[in-house]
Amino acid sequence: MSQLILPKAWHIPEKEITPENVFNNRRHFLKLLGFTTVGIAGALFAPPAFAKNAESKLAEKLFASNPATALPPARNLKRSPDYTIRRPMTYESVALKYNNFYEFSAEKDRVWQTIDAFNPRPWDIEIGGLVEKPGKYAIDDFIKMFDPEERVYRHRCVETWAMVVPWNGFQMSDLIDKVQPKSNARYVKFTSFDDPSSAPGQQRFSNLPWPYTEALTMAEAVHELTFIATGVYGHTLPRQHGAPIRLVTPWKYGFKSIKSIVKIEFTVAKPATFWNTLIPKEYDFEANVNPDVPHPRWSQRREKMIGTGEIYATQKYNGYGDLVAELYA
Ligand code: MTE
Repeated sequence: MSQLILPKAWHIPEKEITPENVFNNRRHFLKLLGFTTVGIAGALFAPPAFAKNAESKLAEKLFASNPATALPPARNLKRSPDYTIRRPMTYESVALKYNNFYEFSAEKDRVWQTIDAFNPRPWDIEIGGLVEKPGKYAIDDFIKMFDPEERVYRHRCVETWAMVVPWNGFQMSDLIDKVQPKSNARYVKFTSFDDPSSAPGQQRFSNLPWPYTEALTMAEAVHELTFIATGVYGHTLPRQHGAPIRLVTPWKYGFKSIKSIVKIEFTVAKPATFWNTLIPKEYDFEANVNPDVPHPRWSQRREKMIGTGEIYATQKYNGYGDLVAELYA
């Protein structure tokens, strides 16, 4: 008997996911370029310069020089027919060159240029704390334990830039089912790598509380939207997106989506997290996208898509309220 697949809000119809090369040629898209000079008052970032031609050539070059992407792309990804995002996908080559990854650089358009010494293979990931089945795994053995699928999610940075990208990986709850947290586990803590020899930002900003850490409540961690990404745009994760494995929580500001994870721990106490430790008044633990709560230094009412410069009204929970609002009721 064939399995009934219920529509989920992260799924997108095939026709909505326009392949990048097709989308590049659309007349409709050219019209959008007219909006690239519109700025968002009060935001601290400059939109990335729009690389008109040579987009795919640049992407090819970046991938060719990236050991992580030399691995075969994920195959036979599951993708269900229903989805609600009505926004174009972000150009892959734009997303590749506009990143927050402070281990490497504080400049978003420099991360991809400062990442050459970072090698996401070999890589071990440790699962520990309050679990019945702790373990340490070579990353490719770990990834093979899960069925990959692809999800197109919105991403909203606290700095007001946004993108729409197709992650591949698996639902965090699949991992939780396997490792069996003990009944007293209340939080999940994620820790990124600490290696100043390969990460110039960790050398330069040596006073920051490295390694980068993030955490979720157990209810958030088991939520169906919470995703562990091992790839993006149909292939393995490039280094600048957090190879070899990262978290994706699309209803929260992007800083919760920790990259290049080395450890996942289940805890009783609320873990300290990187940005919340550094500037608690600006970056709260929960970090749910909310247009009604301004950042102390800028408004959160609008967001700007990287690459096209389209501006949208920010949606509460980044548009995922129907799925996650009950977590906070
Ligand atoms: N993870 C680590 N380890 N270090 C970081 O600096 N930046 C966060 C998040 N994860 C960050 C991180 C922020 S602020 C954002 S917006 C997203 O990664 C950006 O993800 P992207 O570069 O893949 O778009």
